[in-house]
Amino acid sequence: MPTTSIARDPASSPGASGVGVISEKEAVARADRLLAQMTLEEKVGQISQRFDIASLFPTGASAPPGMPAMTPLDDNVRKAELGSLLFVHEPAVANKYQKIAVEQTRLKIPLLLGYDVIWGMRTMFPVPIGGAASFDPAGVEQARAIAASEARALGIHWTFAPMVDIARDPRWGRIVEGAGEDPYLGAAMAAAQVRGFQGDHIGAAGHIVAGPKHFVGYGASVGGRDYDSAYLSDSELYNVYLPPFAAAINAGAGNIMSAYMDLNDVPASANKRLLTDILRGDLGFKGWVVTDASAVHNLVKQGFAADGADASVRAITAGVDMEMSTAPNAFSTLVASVRAGKVPMKRIDEAVRRVLMVKYRLGLFENPYVDAAAAERITSDPAHAMAAQVAAERSLVLLKNDGNALPLVAGAQKRVAVIGAMADSPGDTTLSLAFPQDAVKAVTVFKGISERLSGIATVETTPGVQLSRLVPSPLAMLLGPVTPWTPAQAADELKKAVGLAARSDVVILTLGEKIEMSSEQASRSDLALPGDQRKLLDAVLATGKPVIVVLMNGRPLDLTGVYDKVPAILEAWYPGSRGGTAVARALFGDVNPGGKTPVTWPRSVGQVPTYYARNLSHDPDGAGRRYWDAPSTPLIPFGFGLSYTSFTIAPPTVDKAELAPGGKVVVSTMVTNTGARAGDEVVQLYIHQRAGRQSRPIRLLQGFRRVTLAPGESQQVSFTLDEANVRYWNSIERGWVIDPGTFDAWIGNSSLADAHTSFIVSGAPRAAH
Ligand code: BGC
Repeated sequence: MPTTSIARDPASSPGASGVGVISEKEAVARADRLLAQMTLEEKVGQISQRFDIASLFPTGASAPPGMPAMTPLDDNVRKAELGSLLFVHEPAVANKYQKIAVEQTRLKIPLLLGYDVIWGMRTMFPVPIGGAASFDPAGVEQARAIAASEARALGIHWTFAPMVDIARDPRWGRIVEGAGEDPYLGAAMAAAQVRGFQGDHIGAAGHIVAGPKHFVGYGASVGGRDYDSAYLSDSELYNVYLPPFAAAINAGAGNIMSAYMDLNDVPASANKRLLTDILRGDLGFKGWVVTDASAVHNLVKQGFAADGADASVRAITAGVDMEMSTAPNAFSTLVASVRAGKVPMKRIDEAVRRVLMVKYRLGLFENPYVDAAAAERITSDPAHAMAAQVAAERSLVLLKNDGNALPLVAGAQKRVAVIGAMADSPGDTTLSLAFPQDAVKAVTVFKGISERLSGIATVETTPGVQLSRLVPSPLAMLLGPVTPWTPAQAADELKKAVGLAARSDVVILTLGEKIEMSSEQASRSDLALPGDQRKLLDAVLATGKPVIVVLMNGRPLDLTGVYDKVPAILEAWYPGSRGGTAVARALFGDVNPGGKTPVTWPRSVGQVPTYYARNLSHDPDGAGRRYWDAPSTPLIPFGFGLSYTSFTIAPPTVDKAELAPGGKVVVSTMVTNTGARAGDEVVQLYIHQRAGRQSRPIRLLQGFRRVTLAPGESQQVSFTLDEANVRYWNSIERGWVIDPGTFDAWIGNSSLADAHTSFIVSGAPRAAH
């Protein structure tokens, strides 16, 4: 468990303080009273959300070419054309817009302000894939609670997060924003993040509404190419891609964002089966659905809708409640469409009611404003920075450590080189569009090591290589231009790095990708290290100095030419504001890495997609020989991560042999720290259905627990399984079922866990819920 806890400051939720919880019934009643007074135009305005483009850029900047104009939205708000804005994150701007809404519009309805609060607001935590690597839902919940408190203090009410898309293709750049490949881990992280953002109810002080995204299947885009179509069988949809959404909804998520891409040839943002039948019917979602940015306009570009009016009719009748748009909203056409009888007024009212209800529940009608002084105090709370450091430490994964190359002994090496393109780049340690002035102060790996070795060793840094994208990142226009090195400069920089390595006693080499190489519009056709990083590694290795690799990246990479050449690899992801401190503490043994990879690492891009929960096939023994040119096993299995200490995990036992209808089985083990240091182990439980009405994955994660043990200490770890753990969605029955029979259970510290037991699911084949 993280040791830092944060005290709640009531001022962090000015809108909610003093309002108390209002019941759903009361919110409906108040929303309906207001609805009865609204014109059709005002109703359509309530369900229209626009980008406040100016809020994307530092005050005073002008919009770069290609971006829509930065005209403030004052007039649109005054005319009640908008119910919500996104990207406002400065208290003064939030208060300005709220004042117009509540003082200058006929019905005085406050605005709902949304923002992408993804890995932090002002204090930056590890990216979500790093959070998932911690296998610590409580820690991730705390990180999101801190982000929520900072966001709420700035006037933000709602986040477009968590991203709960399952991602099994590391070419897809947005894998960094999620929890990886596994539905069980994904569901645990989804629920934890919703609880963290939202607290225990919508309107909880210091919290914001969570909007899990992107509903659904975005992570399955063909070829890993962002935005391309996805095709999913119903079995994959229900068994793999929907569970994190179901968990987020069960945790109370107030909002859902619909995805951009076509799913099975129907755009997700106008897909009635997804947005109404599955989301409302199967998952029981009660909140409001917002589209992804300009997804209604896009229905025309996608070759689906004839024009903006057609797109709006089809989106709203499919189940969208609010349109997010970068440009004037397509939804304004709904006024004419309702009058023409193309959309029932009932559907509009339902959408508006959902939006008004959340505004009531947040207490915005009582107090739409925020206090700028409180915002500054809350967002600069030093406890938040400490929590970010602990979260970063817990996200680290030790991928290799031959001969106990790590930890290093601080001071044993008098000259330490920290080399690599990300080594001293705050912008590649974390990214914050809202607080760029703080992000430049992020503790880089170089800075963290320098501080750790202050007075006991000389620490120097140099990049060695420059990394760039062939197709520029959309972030480039926000981050500003970078001058590419000339070939002569590149040669000089490489020489400089080799020189530094040669005069040092140890080299910490950061390898991986720049931050702009991950996330939206950041897909790759290859997973090898970009640029001249392998050349740099080889040149540094040629000096004969010991080399430790610290990876900084948002996706699994092809580690050919790296993995076999260095004794130790520490995965740091993009670790956040205090990332370098966390990395330094791990390198020098002040903390013991205990994270596990939440995604399988392929040996090469040709193996993609590869994930542990595959089916057995008729040739299970040949699974490692599917390709003739390379092994078909992955390089690093899901759930894997080393420690500076060693653990034993005893063979599992079950408390009874049978999981009867409505019953439970407890699978237990004893985990012991057999080494000389304190450390964390993530005990993992996998199960497998031997036979049934459908082939089921070779193994499926159904439990995990991260435990901290002192040297010699043991702890019993138990997992309770019930019918929810053995049910699955069957493609013949077209519903959830339970198949009786024998189930294997393995317990261990990765998806290769081999300590085995089994239990019987008894009763008749049955439907499950
Ligand atoms: C992304 C969403 C994001 C939205 C607003 C879109 O392009 O797909 O994830 O929430 O922009 O920033």
